[in-house]
Amino acid sequence: MAILVTGGTGYIGSHTVVDLLNHDYDVVIVDNFVNSKPEVLNRITRITGKTPRFYEVDVCDEAKLEEVFKKENITDIIHFAGLKSVAESVAKPQLYIDNNIGSSKVLLRLMTKYHVHNIVFSSSATVYGVPDHVPLKESDKVGGCTNPYGQTKLDIEYLLKDYAKEHNDANIAILRYFNPIGAHSSGLIGEDPQGIPNNLMPYITQVAVGKRDHLNVYGSDYNTPDGTGVRDYIHVVDLARGHLFALRKLESKPGLVIYNLGTGKGTSVLDLVRAFEKANDIKINYVICDRRPGDIDENYADCHKAWEEMGFKTEFDIVDACRDSWHWQKNNPNGYGD
Ligand code: NAD
Ligand code: UD1
Repeated sequence: MAILVTGGTGYIGSHTVVDLLNHDYDVVIVDNFVNSKPEVLNRITRITGKTPRFYEVDVCDEAKLEEVFKKENITDIIHFAGLKSVAESVAKPQLYIDNNIGSSKVLLRLMTKYHVHNIVFSSSATVYGVPDHVPLKESDKVGGCTNPYGQTKLDIEYLLKDYAKEHNDANIAILRYFNPIGAHSSGLIGEDPQGIPNNLMPYITQVAVGKRDHLNVYGSDYNTPDGTGVRDYIHVVDLARGHLFALRKLESKPGLVIYNLGTGKGTSVLDLVRAFEKANDIKINYVICDRRPGDIDENYADCHKAWEEMGFKTEFDIVDACRDSWHWQKNNPNGYGD
């Protein structure tokens, strides 16, 4: 009765593994460390006092992954493994197709062969493309993705829908994450981007720790209250908890279900900078510059469905997330490399 967590040493995966272990789930992680470090496993043990079973396996390697299915009694899968850099996906779209879609196809084949019925998939609000309104509901139109990374997420959603049509006993939760930020309150695990961060919060924390001189605010002429981009920032610990709610939902054999995981609140770039300054009493220098290609004015989630059907809602706000992101960065200025 084990939960297979692919990509379980990554940012969201590691927080989810901690929550699963704290709730006495039997956890098996597979990861190939393409974007994470083995040290994460020690940190998970330090937080939980438990050591999950771990296999260094590329999910695209069907033969090796099958060994894990043979050895372990897997009943459920949470599929985090994937590449997620928008810029890299523009430069290397085939890599993203092969890794993200390829790994999902391998998992579905092994699910059929080993009679595993339940899977939770990490999708993204990016599947909504350029929204014509907010908040975004699960029933809103998808498509028009602005980059190959986003397109792989949408293509995997379609793969899963086809799989559910052919397999009456499959239970699939597609979770569309909005923008995860924050870290575990222990300061032992958090987001550890390689190189220059693409995303806003790790950039802010690197300015705060003195690794970067200032934040570049990408545009102040968006159609938003203060002109900077608006997003729905969800604390990663809340997001992780959402996966346990999804696993419980799958126990009721719902077939395929889709949920937004967000807070339902829009926060601008400057709101987040101010929240960080207030939470941590640190000044963040910033410079307003040109828009980043592909960025949208605003998106935030309608969270009613996750609440009504799974009883899930967030507990933390952006001030908590700013405090926890900083705690992680301050204690680990070079991430897991320290
Ligand atoms: P992450 O890069 O920190 O974690 C992904 C993990 O998967 C890494 O540990 C990486 O080494 C592993 N991995 C990648 N390809 C693999 C493969 N073929 N075989 C084995 N392991 C592999 O990313 P994250 O932020 O934790 O995101 C987790 C999932 O959620 C991803 O699928 C991502 O696309 C999705 N998502 C993330 C965000 C976000 O803002 N972080 C938003 C929406 C969706
Ligand atoms: C980005 C990706 C999206 C992906 C998501 C989570 C793009 C175009 N979109 O979304 O596909 O699912 O990350 O990984 O890359 N900002 C700055 N300065 C910075 C960084 C960001 O001003 O240095 C602004 C952005 O313009 C945006 C907001 O901060 O308004 C959030 O940016 P980011 O954290 O990159 O997330 P998304 O753009 O929502």
